[in-house]
Amino acid sequence: MSTRTEWQPPPELWQRLKPLARQMRKEPTPAEYKLWQRLRNRQILNVKFRRQFAIDRFIVDFCSPEVRMIIEVDGPIHQYTQEEDKIRQDFLESLGFVVLRFTNLAVLNQTQAVVTEIEQQACKLMDMLSLSISLLERPAELMPELEQLGARHVGYGVRAEHYDTVSTALFGMLAAVLRDKYTAPVEAAWRELYRVIRDTMLRGATGGSAGDRPGARPGA
Ligand code: HEM
Repeated sequence: MSTRTEWQPPPELWQRLKPLARQMRKEPTPAEYKLWQRLRNRQILNVKFRRQFAIDRFIVDFCSPEVRMIIEVDGPIHQYTQEEDKIRQDFLESLGFVVLRFTNLAVLNQTQAVVTEIEQQACKLMDMLSLSISLLERPAELMPELEQLGARHVGYGVRAEHYDTVSTALFGMLAAVLRDKYTAPVEAAWRELYRVIRDTMLRGATGGSAGDRPGARPGA
């Protein structure tokens, strides 16, 4: 699982980035300013976003480290070449961040559509859990369905280690949404549920089946 220190900039680099990030925060572009008015103060599903946030050697426009989401607003003159953009995006994704990109024009002229897309991305994490919870009501179908879901995820390019980064984002999201209801026992119960789901999906991903090992408990 990634820890904060893995992606925080090293102190000497941070000393150089800090004034830059501060200046960029003070002088946002009109599009950045407009989007910030919709993201600030936890307006989207109670998720806390930060502006001009440093991750390793990059400064991203908006970031929620808790739910591992980055939002970038591309200006008319692109800050990076396409190749640099790809390296930057791959690097951020390798740290388990989802990167959403919007153009200046979209943010300025279709603000609500942009906000809806951000909300939908945030909801995706919750959708994953709602699906699993709905399956809990049909226990006989739970294991085979989750195994098939795990097998489909191989096709989506999902590897075992991704389940850790997603769990970090998911629990960040749960903490944001449930606020003071997110107590230690509640967190423990969700973690246990996630562990069972992950183990079952991974078993499906590797071609195993709950039926192969009678009496085997997932994750046991
Ligand atoms: C608790 C574990 C997870 C659950 C319950 C879950 C659930 C789902 C569901 C229901 C879908 C819809 C498509 C389908 O039914 O095949 C889906 C799609 C997808 N999931 Fe997951 N997922 C989980 C973990 C992950 C992880 C760890 C990743 C990797 C980062 C991931 C990435 C994706 C992708 C790329 C898609 C397809 C495209 C999309 O809908 O965005 N999922 N997931």
